Amino acid sequence: MCLGPAGQCGSGAIGSRSTGAIRAADLGWRGSIWLRSPRPLSSSWAPQSARRAPSPPIARSRSRLLKPKRRQLTRPLETFKPVIDPVWVVDSGPISASGLNLPVRMTVVRLSNGDLFLHSPTRFTADLAREMKALGPVRHLVAPTIAHWSYLKEWQQAYSDATTWAVPGLRDRTQVRRSGIRIDKDLGPEAPPAWTDDMIQGTVTGGAGFCEAYFFDKRSRTLVLADLIQDLQPEELPPLTRLVTRAARATQGTTASHVRAVLRLGGREAASSIAAMIALSPDRVIFAHGRSFDENGADRLRNAFAWLKV
Ligand SMILES: [Fe+2]
Repeated sequence: MCLGPAGQCGSGAIGSRSTGAIRAADLGWRGSIWLRSPRPLSSSWAPQSARRAPSPPIARSRSRLLKPKRRQLTRPLETFKPVIDPVWVVDSGPISASGLNLPVRMTVVRLSNGDLFLHSPTRFTADLAREMKALGPVRHLVAPTIAHWSYLKEWQQAYSDATTWAVPGLRDRTQVRRSGIRIDKDLGPEAPPAWTDDMIQGTVTGGAGFCEAYFFDKRSRTLVLADLIQDLQPEELPPLTRLVTRAARATQGTTASHVRAVLRLGGREAASSIAAMIALSPDRVIFAHGRSFDENGADRLRNAFAWLKV
């Protein structure tokens, strides 16, 4: 979640360990939807006997110290998970955004020519790069909002011949200019020749500089978003983040309050863009923060924007 147009999803990342490389064969499809790995064992998931078992004070203290902060995020992290051919996601985080610690997701689409399209690149790791070789060449790095750009530089350094695309306005941000990130092309309201055969593209422009580009993969009928919808899982969040995101409706599979505010400033144009996006009737919707809409995508997308009355 990015708190307002000046927010930044991905700054001040916490932790950097990856889950390790997997074999190329592991990147295959296991049915149409990735099955989430079992939730991590925490006190509330442990067997009753285990919870009641006494532990020496020193051991309990050490156990608390050794608990990784990322234990509650959707696992596995920093590895490719097939969603549906030709779409993968990489769950990562937590990232620090406006004082909150949030999970974040990258979506990878393989174009018909084999090129890889990376939507909202997350933390770069050597293991991810190794896995990437089994998928195809990285050709497109995409910053879909003015807040999702923090890891671009790492990917640019690893794939210097990839084209970096960003929504209008990102290149003008002071933080971006200072970062040394190279932005090659702006994302417009229509898909460029590089992926127009495979994806429909649109932009939603609100007030206060907000702009998000959306992408609809025609082959898999998958809509890829960043911040327009969020469905964070409260149990995966630290207390303050849980409190704030709940209050902002970012845990309800809809548009968070602060995003609603800037979209309302966008008036009819923003509403019209969202109506066009809803009309795509996707089978599934993936977004950058929280649980995706894996089924009934069209209905759930319409419900998510019921507040806008489009
Ligand atoms: Fe975000």
